[in-house]
Amino acid sequence: MLDSLNQQPADALLALIKLYDADPRADKIDLGVGVYRTNDGATPVFSAVKAAEQKLVAEQDSKAYLGPEGDMGFVHALMPYIFGSKDPTMGGRIDGMQVPGGTGGLRLAFALAKRSGINRIITGTPTWPNHPQILADLEMESVGFSHAGPVGTADMAALRAAIADAQPGDAILLHGCCHNPTGIDYTPEEWDEVARLVADSGLLPIIDLAYQGLGRGMDEDAAGLRKVLAAVPEAMICYSCDKNFGLYRDRVGAFYVMGKSAESTVKVLSNGHVLARTNWSQPPDHGAAAVRLVLRDESLTKQWLAELDAMRTRMRDVRKALAAADNRVAGLDLAPLAHQNGLFSMLALDKDQILAIREKHGVYMAGSGRINVAGLTMGNIQKFIDALADVTA
Ligand code: LMR
Repeated sequence: MLDSLNQQPADALLALIKLYDADPRADKIDLGVGVYRTNDGATPVFSAVKAAEQKLVAEQDSKAYLGPEGDMGFVHALMPYIFGSKDPTMGGRIDGMQVPGGTGGLRLAFALAKRSGINRIITGTPTWPNHPQILADLEMESVGFSHAGPVGTADMAALRAAIADAQPGDAILLHGCCHNPTGIDYTPEEWDEVARLVADSGLLPIIDLAYQGLGRGMDEDAAGLRKVLAAVPEAMICYSCDKNFGLYRDRVGAFYVMGKSAESTVKVLSNGHVLARTNWSQPPDHGAAAVRLVLRDESLTKQWLAELDAMRTRMRDVRKALAAADNRVAGLDLAPLAHQNGLFSMLALDKDQILAIREKHGVYMAGSGRINVAGLTMGNIQKFIDALADVTA
């Protein structure tokens, strides 16, 4: 019976890591999977997280089950950062549960949408490959519209048209900040319009916030989400700490519901608990417990925010340096990279150019032309610009 399954291709992003690892060239450059790197090319554990982990090892006296909702201290400690410190529960209408990373939250959100009768999710494309992959696995329809306009900014006309074409009972997937893969976030004025359009259309927003703090700042990166939540009656939010706490392999995420009332939120989350139980039973504890300890300790919180600031500043510097090289790479428009946000931007390279830059110059990027700007350092950026100039000449 098992033999009837067809061989599946390896996940393209994860396969790229293997190709990069196997390349013997010392000056190779990895712009593939979205992990942050320092100017020395390292992905260290945040010192605030390390201190919290040491505290955890010293103080934790049990590893008994917590239940499908996971560490609710962690879930609640994040809420002022996401929803604002004034009224983080929106009068008791927002609550959540711990989930295994951003992917766990998305799986749960989409499955809950399906349980509540939603079958179509409107999604700006290109998007992170796991968005359509999870929807396909749940046999839900993903209706694409073009997110990126021709000048490296959001295509608002396409968004307006997609919302106008929506059917009652559809949901819309929005990237909260640091859009993956384009780096094109809505401006504050565009978010005002997004909030209005989503509210008027009656669509259910599902907001994926996986990079808070890596774009413009913690509050700035949540401002769009807060505008949408203020305008609509209900929403679901998938949050990841994998990037902004550097906890990738610990799978640290939270899922939140804003219901029409506190009672409705409790009901939705009870369905979330059932889905968690049947999928992963309970989320992994360690990373979430470390985040809770960081956020409950004033000096560790300060240390974490300072580390996050340094990451954001470094990525802005790399973006500025790439944009400044615009006239050296005749075949590509690099200027918009300066206003885009977060780890990613998309370069308009074709398949042959992406292969050539890998084979000839040892530069590894996703097949879509997505680059992780954190893979560039002040030491390798000139080589990258020269390689780009070469393959686009
Ligand atoms: C990425 O887009 O590179 C990351 O989010 C890694 C992943 O899980 O695909």
